[in-house]
Amino acid sequence: MRQEPKTVSGSSRGLRATQGAVLDVENLYLYFGATTGVVRAVDRVSFKLNHGRSLAIVGESGCGKTSLARAILRLLPRNVDTYKGRVLVDGNDVMKFSEERFRREVRWVKISMVTQAAMNSLNPVLKVGYQVAEPLLLDHRVGKGDAMERAREVFQTVGIPEAFLQRYAFELSGGMRQRAIIAMALVANPLIVILDEPTSALDTLTQANIMNALKKIKKDLRLTYIFITHDIATSSELADEVICMYAGQLVEHSKAERFYREPLHPYARMLMASVPTLRLDKKPEFISGQPPSLINPPQGCRFAERCPRRFERCQEEPPLFTHGDGLVKCWLYERD
Ligand SMILES: Nc1ncnc2c1ncn2[C@@H]1O[C@H](COP(=O)(O)OP(=O)(O)O)[C@@H](O)[C@H]1O
Ligand SMILES: [Mg+2]
Repeated sequence: MRQEPKTVSGSSRGLRATQGAVLDVENLYLYFGATTGVVRAVDRVSFKLNHGRSLAIVGESGCGKTSLARAILRLLPRNVDTYKGRVLVDGNDVMKFSEERFRREVRWVKISMVTQAAMNSLNPVLKVGYQVAEPLLLDHRVGKGDAMERAREVFQTVGIPEAFLQRYAFELSGGMRQRAIIAMALVANPLIVILDEPTSALDTLTQANIMNALKKIKKDLRLTYIFITHDIATSSELADEVICMYAGQLVEHSKAERFYREPLHPYARMLMASVPTLRLDKKPEFISGQPPSLINPPQGCRFAERCPRRFERCQEEPPLFTHGDGLVKCWLYERD
């Protein structure tokens, strides 16, 4: 049996504040069954997020970002091996809800999600306005007239001309389709919106337009965002705080000001140094080696093999240490 590391709880202010947490994730696991073994995509992740904050989740492809979002929203594939932990939304432990109650009270209603490449999954035979209203029509939450009225409102919020309500997806540009997907995520007035790589499939100019729209929406609606991206530069425009994931685990949770200036975890430092646009004075550096397999990850620190600062202690799995107002899963911070 592997020993579970002890989580060192942080200070009562800042990132670990319990009061006002709109989302509180505790020891969340999501493993998948595969032919070659069990994939530990989300491996004991804990974090808290306060109302109105914007959290960026960063990390290389395959580190578990999408799986974490799916675990929060209980959007699970058939091959789930392990799914456990606590997810408190506005103080309610929604993991205890039946699937029916979760669908009725949580998904789309409290937390909505713009999934990766969702803009390409709009239904080609339904008018866009109707599709945006659809989350409201599930379970007959509201009548069709009110739902369409609300769709009209959110079209305005995201900056789509009203006439587009009557159009089909193929008649919209990529940027407009992405706005329609964001409108759909907003239509039921959720507390939290999860955006999974919302701009990756778009050209640079459209990306910038969508980012600006997202910023404005956040300010106007006082939403809580969870913004997933492998693109650090994009995330820096929107984030109040940052979680960095590595090989299925949370390795750092810091306020954005600190993270983009000087991250704590050696992996996060290397990730930042690999971003060309943020450090114009420096050449981007590359992180050599590959992340470990999630099927049989190493026993100790999962980054140790690639880490320039590894020492003996790293053979053991580090807990999350508090450092200032950040949290970091690295033995270098043991004595702080
Ligand atoms: N349904 C699934 N079955 C098996 N493995 C999966 C499944 N979904 C994702 N994975 C694996 O889980 C790991 C994390 O994937 P993902 O959460 O998509 O990462 P990210 O979003 O950070 O790129 C990857 O190794 C991926 O191949
Ligand atoms: Mg992903």
